[in-house]
Amino acid sequence: MNAPPEAIAPLLAVDKLEVVYKHAITAVQGISLNVMPGQIVAVLGTNGAGKSTTLRAISGFLGLDDARVTDGSITFKGARIENRAPHLIARRGIALVPEREKVFPNLTVTENLHAPATSGVSRADIRRREELVYQFFPRLAELRPRIGGLLSGGERQMLALASALMCHPELLLVDELSLGLAPVIVEQLAQRLTEIRAELGITILLVEQSATVALAIADYGYVLENGRVVLDGTAERLRNHGDIKEFYLGQAGSGERRSYREIKQYRRSRRWYG
Ligand SMILES: Nc1ncnc2c1ncn2[C@@H]1O[C@H](COP(=O)(O)OP(=O)(O)OP(=O)(O)O)[C@@H](O)[C@H]1O
Ligand SMILES: [Mg+2]
Repeated sequence: MNAPPEAIAPLLAVDKLEVVYKHAITAVQGISLNVMPGQIVAVLGTNGAGKSTTLRAISGFLGLDDARVTDGSITFKGARIENRAPHLIARRGIALVPEREKVFPNLTVTENLHAPATSGVSRADIRRREELVYQFFPRLAELRPRIGGLLSGGERQMLALASALMCHPELLLVDELSLGLAPVIVEQLAQRLTEIRAELGITILLVEQSATVALAIADYGYVLENGRVVLDGTAERLRNHGDIKEFYLGQAGSGERRSYREIKQYRRSRRWYG
Protein backbone atom coordinates (compact mmCIF):
# COMPACT_ATOMS: atom_id res chain seq x y z
CA MET A 1 0.00 0.00 0.00
CA ASN A 2 1.29 3.47 -0.85
CA ALA A 3 2.02 5.82 2.04
CA PRO A 4 -0.37 8.78 2.12
CA PRO A 5 1.14 11.97 0.66
CA GLU A 6 2.64 14.19 3.33
CA ALA A 7 0.27 16.99 4.24
CA ILE A 8 1.59 20.39 3.16
CA ALA A 9 1.52 22.92 5.97
CA PRO A 10 0.02 26.33 5.26
CA LEU A 11 2.54 29.17 4.90
CA LEU A 12 0.13 31.37 6.84
CA ALA A 13 -2.63 30.20 9.17
CA VAL A 14 -5.02 32.67 10.75
CA ASP A 15 -7.16 30.98 13.39
CA LYS A 16 -10.23 32.51 15.06
CA LEU A 17 -8.65 35.95 14.93
CA GLU A 18 -10.20 38.76 16.93
CA VAL A 19 -8.99 42.37 16.66
CA VAL A 20 -10.15 45.25 18.85
CA TYR A 21 -9.44 48.96 18.19
CA LYS A 22 -8.99 51.32 21.12
CA HIS A 23 -10.12 48.64 23.65
CA ALA A 24 -13.67 49.16 22.35
CA ILE A 25 -14.35 48.45 18.66
CA THR A 26 -14.22 44.79 17.59
CA ALA A 27 -13.37 44.93 13.88
CA VAL A 28 -12.53 41.26 13.32
CA GLN A 29 -14.54 38.59 15.11
CA GLY A 30 -13.17 35.07 14.72
CA ILE A 31 -11.71 35.06 11.20
CA SER A 32 -9.90 31.88 10.13
CA LEU A 33 -8.04 31.56 6.84
CA ASN A 34 -5.17 29.55 5.38
CA VAL A 35 -2.68 30.50 2.70
CA MET A 36 -0.77 27.60 1.16
CA PRO A 37 2.75 28.09 -0.23
CA GLY A 38 2.66 29.51 -3.78
CA GLN A 39 -1.02 30.39 -3.70
CA ILE A 40 -2.72 33.66 -4.55
CA VAL A 41 -5.51 34.04 -2.00
CA ALA A 42 -8.15 36.77 -2.26
CA VAL A 43 -9.99 38.38 0.64
CA LEU A 44 -13.17 40.07 -0.56
CA GLY A 45 -15.75 42.24 1.19
CA THR A 46 -17.36 45.64 1.21
CA ASN A 47 -16.41 48.77 3.18
CA GLY A 48 -15.68 48.07 6.82
CA ALA A 49 -15.74 44.27 6.47
CA GLY A 50 -12.39 43.96 8.25
CA LYS A 51 -10.11 43.29 5.27
CA SER A 52 -7.46 45.92 6.04
CA THR A 53 -7.61 45.14 9.75
CA THR A 54 -6.82 41.49 8.97
CA LEU A 55 -3.81 42.47 6.82
CA ARG A 56 -2.63 44.94 9.47
CA ALA A 57 -2.86 42.21 12.11
CA ILE A 58 -0.79 39.83 9.96
CA SER A 59 1.88 42.47 9.20
CA GLY A 60 1.96 43.82 12.76
CA PHE A 61 0.83 47.34 11.88
CA LEU A 62 -2.08 47.39 14.34
CA GLY A 63 -0.28 49.30 17.07
CA LEU A 64 -0.23 52.55 15.09
CA ASP A 65 -4.04 52.54 15.26
CA ASP A 66 -4.19 51.55 18.93
CA ALA A 67 -5.50 48.09 18.06
CA ARG A 68 -4.57 44.60 19.27
CA VAL A 69 -5.16 40.96 18.50
CA THR A 70 -7.27 40.01 21.54
CA ASP A 71 -7.98 36.38 20.64
CA GLY A 72 -6.98 33.67 18.18
CA SER A 73 -3.61 33.23 16.50
CA ILE A 74 -1.56 34.04 13.40
CA THR A 75 1.03 31.42 12.46
CA PHE A 76 3.62 32.04 9.75
CA LYS A 77 5.97 29.20 8.76
CA GLY A 78 5.05 27.42 11.99
CA ALA A 79 5.78 30.37 14.32
CA ARG A 80 3.22 32.52 16.14
CA ILE A 81 3.43 36.19 15.05
CA GLU A 82 0.30 37.89 16.42
CA ASN A 83 1.01 41.18 18.24
CA ARG A 84 4.68 41.09 17.18
CA ALA A 85 6.43 44.29 16.07
CA PRO A 86 6.16 45.04 12.33
CA HIS A 87 9.94 45.03 11.72
CA LEU A 88 10.24 41.55 13.28
CA ILE A 89 7.41 40.24 11.09
CA ALA A 90 9.01 41.84 8.01
CA ARG A 91 12.28 40.11 8.88
CA ARG A 92 10.47 36.75 8.91
CA GLY A 93 9.41 37.35 5.30
CA ILE A 94 6.09 39.21 5.20
CA ALA A 95 5.75 42.50 3.28
CA LEU A 96 2.65 44.70 3.17
CA VAL A 97 1.52 47.02 0.39
CA PRO A 98 -0.78 49.24 2.45
CA GLU A 99 -4.14 50.65 1.41
CA ARG A 100 -3.11 54.27 1.94
CA GLU A 101 0.21 56.13 2.16
CA LYS A 102 1.79 53.67 -0.19
CA VAL A 103 4.97 55.65 -0.92
CA PHE A 104 7.13 58.36 0.69
CA PRO A 105 5.96 61.47 -1.19
CA ASN A 106 9.16 63.48 -0.61
CA LEU A 107 11.61 60.74 -1.59
CA THR A 108 12.60 59.84 -5.15
CA VAL A 109 11.64 56.50 -6.69
CA THR A 110 15.18 55.20 -6.01
CA GLU A 111 15.12 56.43 -2.41
CA ASN A 112 11.69 54.85 -1.91
CA LEU A 113 13.07 51.53 -3.14
CA HIS A 114 16.14 51.70 -0.91
CA ALA A 115 14.21 52.75 2.22
CA PRO A 116 12.71 49.36 3.23
CA ALA A 117 15.81 47.26 2.56
CA THR A 118 18.43 49.04 4.65
CA SER A 119 19.21 46.96 7.75
CA GLY A 120 21.57 44.05 7.24
CA VAL A 121 21.40 44.03 3.44
CA SER A 122 24.59 44.66 1.42
CA ARG A 123 24.73 47.40 -1.20
CA ALA A 124 25.29 44.77 -3.87
CA ASP A 125 22.13 42.93 -2.77
CA ILE A 126 20.12 46.15 -2.81
CA ARG A 127 21.33 46.87 -6.35
CA ARG A 128 20.47 43.33 -7.45
CA ARG A 129 16.98 43.59 -5.97
CA GLU A 130 16.52 47.00 -7.60
CA GLU A 131 17.42 45.60 -11.03
CA LEU A 132 14.97 42.76 -10.44
CA VAL A 133 12.07 45.05 -9.59
CA TYR A 134 12.81 47.13 -12.72
CA GLN A 135 12.36 43.95 -14.75
CA PHE A 136 8.81 43.66 -13.41
CA PHE A 137 8.16 47.41 -13.55
CA PRO A 138 10.33 48.92 -16.34
CA ARG A 139 8.43 52.21 -16.07
CA LEU A 140 9.95 52.75 -12.61
CA ALA A 141 13.46 52.67 -14.07
CA GLU A 142 12.52 55.65 -16.23
CA LEU A 143 11.08 57.43 -13.20
CA ARG A 144 14.09 56.91 -10.90
CA PRO A 145 14.72 60.62 -10.05
CA ARG A 146 11.00 61.53 -9.75
CA ILE A 147 9.64 62.11 -6.24
CA GLY A 148 6.88 59.81 -5.01
CA GLY A 149 4.37 62.63 -4.56
CA LEU A 150 4.48 63.43 -8.28
CA LEU A 151 3.68 59.92 -9.51
CA SER A 152 0.32 58.94 -10.99
CA GLY A 153 -1.91 56.52 -9.04
CA GLY A 154 -0.79 53.56 -11.15
CA GLU A 155 2.89 54.49 -10.89
CA ARG A 156 2.50 54.87 -7.14
CA GLN A 157 0.96 51.40 -6.88
CA MET A 158 3.86 50.00 -8.95
CA LEU A 159 6.35 51.70 -6.62
CA ALA A 160 4.53 50.33 -3.57
CA LEU A 161 4.65 46.78 -4.98
CA ALA A 162 8.29 47.24 -5.96
CA SER A 163 9.21 48.57 -2.49
CA ALA A 164 7.59 45.51 -0.92
CA LEU A 165 9.60 43.24 -3.25
CA MET A 166 12.81 45.00 -2.13
CA CYS A 167 12.20 43.35 1.29
CA HIS A 168 12.60 39.95 -0.39
CA PRO A 169 9.33 38.58 1.08
CA GLU A 170 7.98 35.06 1.01
CA LEU A 171 4.46 36.37 1.57
CA LEU A 172 3.24 39.56 -0.07
CA LEU A 173 0.14 41.23 1.39
CA VAL A 174 -1.58 43.62 -1.02
CA ASP A 175 -4.35 45.90 0.24
CA GLU A 176 -6.63 47.07 -2.61
CA LEU A 177 -4.69 46.77 -5.85
CA SER A 178 -7.51 48.38 -7.82
CA LEU A 179 -8.40 51.36 -5.60
CA GLY A 180 -8.88 54.48 -7.72
CA LEU A 181 -7.14 53.08 -10.81
CA ALA A 182 -8.34 52.70 -14.39
CA PRO A 183 -9.35 49.11 -15.31
CA VAL A 184 -6.58 48.78 -17.90
CA ILE A 185 -3.92 49.69 -15.29
CA VAL A 186 -5.45 47.30 -12.75
CA GLU A 187 -5.33 44.51 -15.32
CA GLN A 188 -1.62 45.16 -15.96
CA LEU A 189 -0.85 45.23 -12.23
CA ALA A 190 -2.81 42.02 -11.64
CA GLN A 191 -0.83 40.43 -14.47
CA ARG A 192 2.41 41.55 -12.76
CA LEU A 193 1.28 39.83 -9.55
CA THR A 194 0.83 36.52 -11.37
CA GLU A 195 4.33 36.92 -12.87
CA ILE A 196 5.80 37.76 -9.44
CA ARG A 197 4.25 34.57 -8.07
CA ALA A 198 5.41 32.46 -11.03
CA GLU A 199 8.94 33.83 -11.37
CA LEU A 200 9.87 34.62 -7.76
CA GLY A 201 7.75 31.95 -6.06
CA ILE A 202 6.17 34.56 -3.79
CA THR A 203 2.87 33.70 -2.11
CA ILE A 204 0.26 36.48 -2.28
CA LEU A 205 -2.66 37.46 -0.05
CA LEU A 206 -4.71 40.04 -1.91
CA VAL A 207 -7.43 42.16 -0.33
CA GLU A 208 -9.93 43.58 -2.81
CA GLN A 209 -13.33 45.20 -3.03
CA SER A 210 -13.34 44.24 -6.70
CA ALA A 211 -14.18 40.55 -6.93
CA THR A 212 -13.65 40.65 -10.69
CA VAL A 213 -10.00 41.64 -10.29
CA ALA A 214 -9.21 39.32 -7.40
CA LEU A 215 -11.00 36.18 -8.61
CA ALA A 216 -9.38 36.50 -12.04
CA ILE A 217 -5.94 35.77 -10.58
CA ALA A 218 -6.62 34.01 -7.25
CA ASP A 219 -6.63 30.29 -6.49
CA TYR A 220 -8.83 30.59 -3.43
CA GLY A 221 -10.99 33.29 -1.87
CA TYR A 222 -12.65 34.33 1.37
CA VAL A 223 -15.60 36.73 1.62
CA LEU A 224 -15.74 38.84 4.79
CA GLU A 225 -18.67 40.69 6.23
CA ASN A 226 -18.81 42.51 9.57
CA GLY A 227 -15.51 40.98 10.64
CA ARG A 228 -16.49 37.39 9.85
CA VAL A 229 -15.91 34.96 6.99
CA VAL A 230 -19.31 34.38 5.36
CA LEU A 231 -18.15 32.32 2.38
CA ASP A 232 -14.96 30.71 1.11
CA GLY A 233 -13.95 28.44 -1.72
CA THR A 234 -11.80 28.03 -4.80
CA ALA A 235 -11.78 31.09 -7.06
CA GLU A 236 -13.60 29.06 -9.70
CA ARG A 237 -16.34 28.11 -7.26
CA LEU A 238 -16.70 31.71 -6.08
CA ARG A 239 -16.79 33.07 -9.65
CA ASN A 240 -19.70 30.75 -10.36
CA HIS A 241 -21.43 31.17 -7.01
CA GLY A 242 -24.86 32.75 -7.45
CA ASP A 243 -24.52 35.15 -4.51
CA ILE A 244 -21.09 36.35 -5.60
CA LYS A 245 -22.34 36.92 -9.15
CA GLU A 246 -25.31 38.86 -7.88
CA PHE A 247 -23.64 40.89 -5.19
CA TYR A 248 -19.94 41.26 -6.04
CA LEU A 249 -19.75 40.79 -9.78
CA GLY A 250 -22.87 42.86 -10.46
CA GLN A 251 -24.22 40.35 -12.94
CA ALA A 252 -27.83 40.39 -11.76
CA GLY A 253 -28.37 44.05 -12.53
CA SER A 254 -30.37 44.47 -9.36
CA GLY A 255 -29.27 48.11 -9.05
CA GLU A 256 -28.86 48.92 -5.39
CA ARG A 257 -25.93 47.22 -3.70
CA ARG A 258 -27.07 45.08 -0.81
CA SER A 259 -25.06 43.14 1.74
CA TYR A 260 -24.32 39.49 1.27
CA ARG A 261 -26.38 38.76 4.38
CA GLU A 262 -29.33 40.79 3.15
CA ILE A 263 -29.39 38.77 -0.05
CA LYS A 264 -29.27 35.56 1.98
CA GLN A 265 -32.08 36.74 4.24
CA TYR A 266 -34.15 37.87 1.26
CA ARG A 267 -33.70 34.47 -0.37
CA ARG A 268 -34.59 32.67 2.85
CA SER A 269 -37.73 34.75 3.38
CA ARG A 270 -38.83 34.03 -0.20
CA ARG A 271 -38.21 30.34 0.30
CA TRP A 272 -40.24 30.31 3.50
CA TYR A 273 -43.05 32.67 2.68
CA GLY A 274 -43.23 32.92 -1.08
N1 LIG B 1 -8.15 53.22 13.29
C1 LIG B 1 -9.35 52.73 13.60
N2 LIG B 1 -9.95 53.02 14.77
C2 LIG B 1 -11.17 52.52 15.08
N3 LIG B 1 -11.87 51.69 14.28
C3 LIG B 1 -11.33 51.37 13.09
C4 LIG B 1 -10.04 51.86 12.69
N4 LIG B 1 -9.78 51.37 11.45
C5 LIG B 1 -10.83 50.61 11.12
N5 LIG B 1 -11.76 50.61 12.09
C6 LIG B 1 -13.06 49.89 12.07
O1 LIG B 1 -12.84 48.51 11.87
C7 LIG B 1 -13.80 47.96 10.97
C8 LIG B 1 -13.08 47.28 9.82
O2 LIG B 1 -12.36 48.25 9.09
P1 LIG B 1 -11.34 47.87 7.92
O3 LIG B 1 -10.56 49.10 7.58
O4 LIG B 1 -10.58 46.66 8.31
O5 LIG B 1 -12.35 47.50 6.75
P2 LIG B 1 -12.08 47.17 5.21
O6 LIG B 1 -12.75 45.86 4.94
O7 LIG B 1 -10.64 47.27 4.91
O8 LIG B 1 -12.90 48.32 4.49
P3 LIG B 1 -12.58 49.18 3.16
O9 LIG B 1 -13.02 48.34 2.00
O10 LIG B 1 -13.42 50.39 3.32
O11 LIG B 1 -11.11 49.47 3.14
C9 LIG B 1 -14.70 49.13 10.53
O12 LIG B 1 -15.86 49.07 11.28
C10 LIG B 1 -13.88 50.35 10.87
O13 LIG B 1 -14.70 51.43 11.21
MG1 LIG C 1 -9.55 48.46 3.70
